[in-house]
Amino acid sequence: MALAINWKLIFASLLVLELCYQATSRSLQDASMTVRHEQWMTQFGRVYKDDIEQAKRFNIFKGNVEYIDSVNNAGTRTYELDVNKFADLTNEEFRATRNGYKQAPFPRSCKATFMYENVSAIPSSMDWRTKGAVTPVKDQGQCGCCWAFSAVAATEGINQLTTGKLVSLSEQELVDCDRSGIDQGCMGGLMDNAFNFIINNHGLTTESNYPYLGVDGTCNKNKESNAAAIISGCEDVPENSESSLLKAVANQPISVAIDASGQDFQFYKKGIFTGSCGTGLDHGVTAVGYGTAADGSKYWLVKNSWGTSWGEKGYIRMQRDVAAKEGLCGIAMEPSYPTAIKC
Ligand SMILES: *[C@@H]1O[C@H](CO)[C@@H](O)[C@H](O)[C@H]1NC(C)=O
Repeated sequence: MALAINWKLIFASLLVLELCYQATSRSLQDASMTVRHEQWMTQFGRVYKDDIEQAKRFNIFKGNVEYIDSVNNAGTRTYELDVNKFADLTNEEFRATRNGYKQAPFPRSCKATFMYENVSAIPSSMDWRTKGAVTPVKDQGQCGCCWAFSAVAATEGINQLTTGKLVSLSEQELVDCDRSGIDQGCMGGLMDNAFNFIINNHGLTTESNYPYLGVDGTCNKNKESNAAAIISGCEDVPENSESSLLKAVANQPISVAIDASGQDFQFYKKGIFTGSCGTGLDHGVTAVGYGTAADGSKYWLVKNSWGTSWGEKGYIRMQRDVAAKEGLCGIAMEPSYPTAIKC
């Protein structure tokens, strides 16, 4: 009697085995992801209000980690990503609270004259940190006032270059008191408007006198009247010209607007950032230098306001001299800077 092979049964058993295997490996992956999430929560002191929120955040975290791992494992980019403090936020949530650069009017509101137009001696690299013109990296938290941090960093820079003293200045004063133009505290604003506020207000007070709270508040007139740094005016760097931006950054820290909306920007860890990004300007930062990496790639050294755990101790190196006239992420589109009081 021939042995009747029940192929159907064998296939069915194999299928069950395969499905069980997949399910087991998936639950093992989920288990290790849960461990990663819990370790990450401890690292960044994150606590969720209930299990529903925890489950929701776990799924977002998992998706982000899978993306970050896939980019880093592929190793095809000039930069690496990090499972950083933004790892449990969707890109939409991240964009809604950490940026805050508004659409600028045309023409823009600083002077169109460019005092560095005819500058010819441009060093091959610059790092204003080493010249003592840059305060430690700050953290805007969940307030869309990047514009205030960018304007303050540029003002701290020109103030140090003029007076020889590095003084940390107040972003909160701008958040609370600057209602010029379209500046709206945590709801966004423009560096040009902030410079004009500082000019009209006869200066800006110190960080320690008017400390950062990260929420909109009422303008404290007593603190505000205690100016620690003054500027005489502000100028807009000619638009869409990285060579003009270079002349400017060679002379002082410069406020720049960029498109920081991408996932790769959100999770940037280190290396020379090459995108991808568009030119929808949504974030104000400060160009505090430039240089060329060992492999020959040119970069802008950019100070961000997301704390020191993001990027290269709070900084990002962004590709310089790209084919597009706008610069990478639009960095050359709307740069501006405060000018010093001439003594
Ligand atoms: C640059 O040089 C040109 C030609 O000499 C001159 O007209 C212009 O005013 C100079 N710009 C500045 C900002 O000094």
